[in-house]
Amino acid sequence: MAANAAPLPADGVLPRHVAIIMDGNGRWAKKRFLPRIAGHRQGVEAVRRVSRAARQLGIEVLTLYAFSSENWRRPEDEVRDLMGLLRHFLASELDELISEGVKLKVIGEFRRLSPDLVEMIDQAMARTAASPGPTLVIALNYGAQAEIAAAARHLASEAAAGRIAIEAIDEKAIDNALETRDLPPLDLLIRTSGEQRLSNFLLWQAAYAELLFVDTLWPDFDGDTLAEAIGQFGRRQRRFGGL
Ligand code: IPE
Ligand code: IPE
Ligand code: MG
Repeated sequence: MAANAAPLPADGVLPRHVAIIMDGNGRWAKKRFLPRIAGHRQGVEAVRRVSRAARQLGIEVLTLYAFSSENWRRPEDEVRDLMGLLRHFLASELDELISEGVKLKVIGEFRRLSPDLVEMIDQAMARTAASPGPTLVIALNYGAQAEIAAAARHLASEAAAGRIAIEAIDEKAIDNALETRDLPPLDLLIRTSGEQRLSNFLLWQAAYAELLFVDTLWPDFDGDTLAEAIGQFGRRQRRFGGL
């Protein structure tokens, strides 16, 4: 399917910031009697497709959960395959991201990945830093609890050094100490593959996000599925605690 076939939702507002828990690569492969890596390869194709579709729809920020801080628990060769695909994605996609004016941002403790990957990520972020946007955020070795703990440590050390008052540690201060500080608030959080949990993704940021769980396996996700999700978002009534 061509990504530009995705219709603009006519009946609602467009979310500024959409995040996706890209789940179901392994099950996609299993259904076809293929090795899990085949599902991950198709998952990368879905990333290309969906990030293009998001740009065409006019979404400002797309945040994709690519590798969680818990995914190290997987067998070593699967982790190695995932890192290989990430290398390949960064190498093959950077020119298009630059030419399309996309800003690439990585969240998570990516500095703990192998040095060559860290170097590639730093270069990709540097080369797109001046891009006007939209922004593609990739969460790598990301865990929301670790992110919140790091923010707490940072604010505690600022307070201990006398640079901020303890009373100044409020919601806004924590927001500003998170890695998402420069992004608009999360509007829509989608998880594919039918699982209904957050798996340690954007726990703080999801406070008032609309949640959408779809049965589609990530490798089958495309511009139409995204447009459908955005249509559903447009029909939700957000109240933020008011009436
Ligand atoms: C998501 O697909 C990709 C990553 C977590 C990296 P999975 O690999 O979790 O696929 P399932 O859940 O086993 O089907
Ligand atoms: C969440 O998927 C992490 C990513 C999509 C990167 P998992 O497949 O790792 O989540 P669990 O283990 O089912 O909760
Ligand atoms: Mg999974």
